[in-house]
Amino acid sequence: MTTPKLGRAARSALMTGMLVYAAGSQPALAGDASAGADVFKQECSECHTTREGHNKKGPSLFGIVGRHAGSLAGYKYTDALKNADWVWTEDKLHWYLSQSARKANPGTRMKYPGLDDPRQLDDLIAYLQSNH
Ligand code: HEC
Repeated sequence: MTTPKLGRAARSALMTGMLVYAAGSQPALAGDASAGADVFKQECSECHTTREGHNKKGPSLFGIVGRHAGSLAGYKYTDALKNADWVWTEDKLHWYLSQSARKANPGTRMKYPGLDDPRQLDDLIAYLQSNH
C-alpha cells in the first residue's frame, strides 16, 4: 500500500482542520469565550452583569443559556419580556442579539441595536454559555 503524497496546501489545510478540531469539544463553529468576555464588556456591561443576583438596568445574565425568558425572580421585567414564551437557547440568543431588541421583542425596555459581526456574536454566546 502506498501513502498518497499531499501537496503543501493540502497538508496545511489538513493541519488547520485538525487544530480547529483539537481546540475544544465544542461544535465546529463555536465561539471563543475569552474573546466573548471583551464583547460583553463593550456591548452589554453598561446594563448587565454575569454575576448571580446582580441586576443593573437589565437582569443578571448569569446562567442565561437554558433560562426561560423573563423568569428571574427579583427583576422587574416589562410585560413584553415576561410574556415571551421561549427559553434562551444559543440559537434564540443568536436570533435576538443579531437584530434590534425592540424588533425581536416589541415593547421591551432593552435598548440595543443588535450586533452584526457574526464572529463577535459567536464569541459572546460562548462566553454567556460559560457562565453558570
Ligand atoms: C442599554 C441597556 C442594555 C444593553 C446595552 C443591553 N441590554 Fe439586555 N436587557 C436590558 C434590559 C432593560 C432588559 C430587560 C428588558 C425587559 O424587561 O423588557 C434586558 C434583557 C435582556 C435579556 C433577557 C433576559 C431574561 O431574563 O429573559 C437578554 C438575554 C439580554 N438582555 C442580553 C443582552 C446582551 C447579551 C447584551 C449585549 C450584547 C445586552 N443585553 C445589552 C438592557 C440592555
